[in-house]
Amino acid sequence: MMDIHADRLLILDFGSQYTQLIARRVREHGVYSEILPCDVDPQRITEFAPKGIVLSGGPESTTDSAGWTIPKEVYDLEVPILGICYGMQALAQELGGRVESSDLREFGHADLIIENDESLLAGLSDTGSLSVWMSHGDRVTELPPGFIVIGSSAHAPIAAMANEERQIYGLQFHPEVTHSEGGSEMLAKFAHAICGCGREWTPENIIDDAITQVREQVGDGQVLLGLSGGVDSSVVAALLHKAIGNQLVCVFVDNGLLRLNEGAQVMETFAQNLGVRVIRANAEERFLTALKGEADPERKRKIIGRTFIEVFEEEAAKLSDVRFLAQGTIYPDVIESAGAASGKAHVIKSHHNVGGLPDDMRMQLVEPLRELFKDEVRILGVTLGLPPSMVYRHPFPGPGLGVRILGEVHKSSADILRKADHIFIEELRKAGLYDKVSQAFAVFLPVNSVGVVGDQRRYAPVIALRAVETIDFMTARWAHLPYEFIERVSGRIINEIEDVSRVVYDVSSKPPATIEWE
Ligand code: XMP
Repeated sequence: MMDIHADRLLILDFGSQYTQLIARRVREHGVYSEILPCDVDPQRITEFAPKGIVLSGGPESTTDSAGWTIPKEVYDLEVPILGICYGMQALAQELGGRVESSDLREFGHADLIIENDESLLAGLSDTGSLSVWMSHGDRVTELPPGFIVIGSSAHAPIAAMANEERQIYGLQFHPEVTHSEGGSEMLAKFAHAICGCGREWTPENIIDDAITQVREQVGDGQVLLGLSGGVDSSVVAALLHKAIGNQLVCVFVDNGLLRLNEGAQVMETFAQNLGVRVIRANAEERFLTALKGEADPERKRKIIGRTFIEVFEEEAAKLSDVRFLAQGTIYPDVIESAGAASGKAHVIKSHHNVGGLPDDMRMQLVEPLRELFKDEVRILGVTLGLPPSMVYRHPFPGPGLGVRILGEVHKSSADILRKADHIFIEELRKAGLYDKVSQAFAVFLPVNSVGVVGDQRRYAPVIALRAVETIDFMTARWAHLPYEFIERVSGRIINEIEDVSRVVYDVSSKPPATIEWE
C-alpha cells in the first residue's frame, strides 16, 4: 500500500501564531506536514527525514543574542529550505548576510515587486507585483553569498531571496495567510516543484490509511467510543464503523443538557442511517438530580463532568471484552500537549474537554484523528457520508446547556432555552448567516423581568442571544447581525415561548468577556 506520509515536509516552529496555518496550507496541496518546535531534540529532525523544511516566523529578533538559531541538522539534511519572516532572517544571518532592526515596522498589506521571474515567485503575477501580508520590525539588509533578491517592497528591499543552487529560499512576508496574493501557490511550488513531493495526502487516502491502521491495531477486539454528537467524535464513529463495523460500540450519554432534538438526531444519523451500534444512556434525571441546588459555575461543570464519567463507565461495564477506547484527539491537541517552541508560541487551546477517564479502565487508546487538523476532520466527515450540517456545526461545550443556564439548572429552564436557541439557529440558517458567524447560541438568565401580554403583566425570565466571529476562540468579536434580523428572532422567541419576557443581544467582545456566559 502507498505510504501517504512518505513525501513530507517539516515545519519548524519558531513561535509564530501562523505556524499551524503553514502546515495546513501545505497539506491542502496534498503533502503531509508536521510541526516540531525549533528547540526539539535535533535527532528528531533527522529521523523525520522530510523532503523539505519550512522555518516559521516568530516573535523574536535575530539581532538579539537570545534569539533562536536554526539547528545544524536542518542544513545537514541537504533538502530545500524555505524561511518565512523570522525564518528568513535567521537564514540570512547564519549564512553570512545581515539583518537589522528597523524603526519602520511594516504591518499589514504591502506591494511585493517581483524582481526575478524564474524562481519561487515565477508566473504568479501578470502585473509584476503581488499584495502580500507583512508583519516585521527587522529586515534583511545584506544578502548572504550565493543569494539573489527575488522580491522587494517599499520598506524591505530584500523582501524575498533565493539561492537556487542550494534550494534555499526566504520570504519576509507570510505566504500562509489568505490575504497574501499568490501565497498558497508559493507554498505549493515549494512543496511540489522544489521539494518534489507528490499529492498523496487526500481525504480518500487518509481514510484508507486510517482504516488499515485501525484494523492492524485492534485486530478482532471491541472498541468503545463516547459519542457526543460533536464533530470529532462523530467523525471517529463514522471512520471506525467503516474500518471495523460491529466491533465498534458507541455510548451516547443524554445528559438532558443537549440542544433541541439533538439526541434524536444523533441516533438517526448513526444508529439508523449508518447502522452503528449506539447505546443511548438516558441520564437526564440523574444529571438534574446531581445538579440540584448548585448555582456555582465551576462546581456545576465538575458535577456534569463527574456524572458523565460515572454513566459512561456503567455502560462500559455492561459490555464484556472491550479492550480499546477510541477518542477524537486531533493534531492541535497533540502539538499543544507537546508544548510548541518551549511555550513561546501563542497557544491556541480548546481548554476544557470533559475530564479524562479513570486509570483503572485499562484500555488501549485508538485515536484515528491524531494527525489531522479540524478542517481536515470536517472534510473527512463529509467524505465518509456524514451530513454537512453536522460536520460544519458551531462548537458546543461539553457541559452543554449547563453553562448556558445561569444559576441553578432546572428542567423547565433547559426546555425554555432549547426552544429559544432553536429559533435563533433556525433563523440564522434561513437568513444565510449561520456559516458567517463562528458560534451563536441563546443563554437563559434567571431574572424575572416584567412584560405585558394582552392586559396581563407577566414576570418571566430573560433570554440573551450571543453570536461571535472568531478564528481561534481565544479572542472574539460580537457579530454585527442586522437589526431587522435580531428583531425577527426576538419577536419569535417572545411570541412562541410563553415563559420569556424579553430578549437581549450581547455586545461584548472577548476579551474581556468570554464567549460563554457560564
Ligand atoms: P469561552 O467561554 O472560554 O469559550 O470564551 C471558548 C470556546 O470554548 C467552548 N467551551 C467549551 N468547550 N467544554 C468544551 O468542549 C467546555 O467545558 C467548554 N466551555 C467553553 C465555548 O463554547 C467556546 O467555543
